[in-house]
Amino acid sequence: EDPRIHGIRTKIRVVPDFPQPGIMFQDITTLLLDPKAFKDTIDLFVERYKGKNISVVAGIEARGFIFGPPIALAIGAKFIPLRKPRKLPGEVISEKYILEYGSDCLEMHVGAVKPHERALVVDDLIATGGTLCAAMNLLERAGAEVIECACVIELPVLKGRERLNDKPLFVLVEYQ
Ligand code: PRP
Ligand code: MG
Repeated sequence: EDPRIHGIRTKIRVVPDFPQPGIMFQDITTLLLDPKAFKDTIDLFVERYKGKNISVVAGIEARGFIFGPPIALAIGAKFIPLRKPRKLPGEVISEKYILEYGSDCLEMHVGAVKPHERALVVDDLIATGGTLCAAMNLLERAGAEVIECACVIELPVLKGRERLNDKPLFVLVEYQ
């Protein structure tokens, strides 16, 4: 394991019973307060994806907007925000999904990605995988090729990885 991973893991705060009883909330705001750990997080993704011909980084609202843009800038890709409903002003395509707590929908601007573009999907965390699945569906419906999904944290007990239909998933930290 890369020695930087340990530092990243120690900066993620786990908050029991938030936002509701039984949920162990993985709080990345404490990671962001540590410039070294935040930089290490971005660097580990950049080292993996630079030179891979990725022209699109898609980040998922809201916490994917924290990690996606610095990765996009560093690898020379464009950034596409995948947003919650009724936030984007242009024509959109939408994907509904089920969450650990509730259901939601993601939208992407039509024309943001061109057919056959190589895309990376970024979020802070994979739990059930429903969110990443919806994000991949949006990109693939637009004709993009999703190369991989990248998250800071995985909750393996929820088996979200199995919902990604064999799409590669790269995570830095597993929370057991
Ligand atoms: C959280 C997290 C992921 C998603 C993972 O986002 O940031 O995006 O849940 O869950 P899943 O794998 O079960 O789909 P949330 O929708 O709570 O909101 P936020 O990012 O806007 O805070
Ligand atoms: Mg989220």
